[in-house]
Amino acid sequence: MQEPDFGIYHHSSRKQSEILRDSVRDLFNKAFKQSGLSSSQNISVLDAGCGLGFLCDVVASYFRNAVITGVDLFKDGSLKEINMPGAEKNMEILGISERVRFIAADLSKPLHSLGNYDMIVSNLVLHNLGKGRRSALKNLLDIMNPDSFFFYGDLYIGNVSAGRSSENDLPSEVKIISEITLEFLPQYRLQILRKSSPSQSYNK
Ligand SMILES: C[S@@+](CC[C@H](N)C(=O)[O-])C[C@H]1O[C@@H](n2cnc3c(N)ncnc32)[C@H](O)[C@@H]1O
Repeated sequence: MQEPDFGIYHHSSRKQSEILRDSVRDLFNKAFKQSGLSSSQNISVLDAGCGLGFLCDVVASYFRNAVITGVDLFKDGSLKEINMPGAEKNMEILGISERVRFIAADLSKPLHSLGNYDMIVSNLVLHNLGKGRRSALKNLLDIMNPDSFFFYGDLYIGNVSAGRSSENDLPSEVKIISEITLEFLPQYRLQILRKSSPSQSYNK
């Protein structure tokens, strides 16, 4: 039976990439459970920087009625040999093509043309944007429905590496609900973020 190929991360071997993905999958499943969201909900989900569709698979497996949009530059960079046909082929192998579509877009630009979403997920993407991380977060928040969740897994290096990240790093419409790290890679954090409803603003 053919297996999906979710690729090799920058500075990693295939084996290391697979070990990391196994742990990240467990962490996201734990976070989904912690959020209290029903796994049978009909939800629209955006995977920001989807690569070859790894997190699309994690979401589709947990939320069995979710429809997912994977967005990426689809240009060789932090994931070797990334391309949209490769991501589409993975979804076919997994039997989830009908629930997942892919769109080429740049997260550092406004994303309104992609529509609005009930949930956003992202893994190992926004640290690549350096100082552009905050504006990419803002672009993503702009297309989230009120009260929706953002499951945001990323590496924290440099001046945000120590301790829990400050809510001041985040746009004011979002609140950190909880934060979990990977035991073997403490720089990796998965934050559960929640967007406020229009009348609220968490950290002015
Ligand atoms: C390390 S890979 C992670 C891929 C996938 N999320 C996963 O967990 O396997 C980072 C991805 O972010 C994408 N990316 C980086 N900057 C981006 C941007 N400005 N807009 C859209 N995608 C971007 C890259 O193309 C790459 O596929």
